[in-house]
Amino acid sequence: MDAESVADRPGSTSMSTGATTEKKRILTGIRPTGPLHLGHYAGALENWVKLQSEYDCHFLIADYQASDYAGDLARVRSAVWEVALDWLAVGLDPEIGSFVVESLVPENAELTTWLAWFLSVGVLERNPTLKVEMEAIENPEDATAKGKSVPVAFYIYPVMQVANILLPRAHLVPVGADQLPHIELTREMARRFNREFKPIFPEPEALVGRVPRLLGIDGHAKMSKSRGNTIDLRDSADSVAKKVRGMYGGPPRGANEPGKVSANPVFGYLDAFDRDAAEVRDLKERYERRGVSNKELKDRLTTVLNELLEPMRQRRAKYERNMSLVREALEHGTKRNRVIATATMEMVRDALDLNYLRKY
Ligand code: TRP
Repeated sequence: MDAESVADRPGSTSMSTGATTEKKRILTGIRPTGPLHLGHYAGALENWVKLQSEYDCHFLIADYQASDYAGDLARVRSAVWEVALDWLAVGLDPEIGSFVVESLVPENAELTTWLAWFLSVGVLERNPTLKVEMEAIENPEDATAKGKSVPVAFYIYPVMQVANILLPRAHLVPVGADQLPHIELTREMARRFNREFKPIFPEPEALVGRVPRLLGIDGHAKMSKSRGNTIDLRDSADSVAKKVRGMYGGPPRGANEPGKVSANPVFGYLDAFDRDAAEVRDLKERYERRGVSNKELKDRLTTVLNELLEPMRQRRAKYERNMSLVREALEHGTKRNRVIATATMEMVRDALDLNYLRKY
């Protein structure tokens, strides 16, 4: 396992025992299904950027798990690059953390296969996130679309997510709130493996971002690509202005008629992204007492969002001009992750007593 200690950051001690390292480890990930949006940012990415120097971070592009696009692999392929660009744009530094392409670390699939034996279909079917997703596959919101049958891979993906986290023996998983059931499952499986075989895995903690669930621009409870109600990190300043102008702004109301703050999602966004909390408080008060036009609110939001997104646009442009830097980030990060993955699989094989050929 020497290779693993070599791959560790300078300053950290050998990981081969899984014991002493200076930095604890993060594994977190996103499925490459398209451009990332403000919901991803406020729910998770912002935390990743904050934590990247404090932890040994592994950021996973979970292409094995983009199973809803199995019929459209070209889309997954291009989304892998989009996600990497979005990460670089928000300020993740591939020199500090590792960008990992899941399927280039096939140990993810290997560990998934073993773990799948330790999980019952019943437990999966009670997983609240899975329930919602399954329902959406079978009864799509778009009434004209026909319900599909659920692919086998769909049952596998939560197990694979457990494998993703256990493989680098991660301590912390910063994610969006919808991922909590999967992290709980990971903790249960780690406990069980440690108890029944060998104590290899830390019991990872979940960490949810500042804004667990960002509303869609249509006022829907969740911003999601499939609903087309997102503001994407890569949107231009004009596109942000246009989307904000078209945003749902609560029930109809005269420009200077008082309204209810809780009924106007524009305030949800200001709460999430406007750094001047005192000013937002003042706006809310005026809104409820005397009324504030939606135009004023939306102009303010546009400014706030474009201030947030502008530095991201500049970083993105730099990498877009030099995609080989993105390729290097993926290549190096994947390699680092794989060294640890190989070592963990060795431990797992030992714990499960699978080294048959060593017998004679
Ligand atoms: N399931 C997560 C999502 O849909 C992505 C993911 C895959 C993930 N593997 C992970 C998140 C491991 C955290 C840890 O966004």
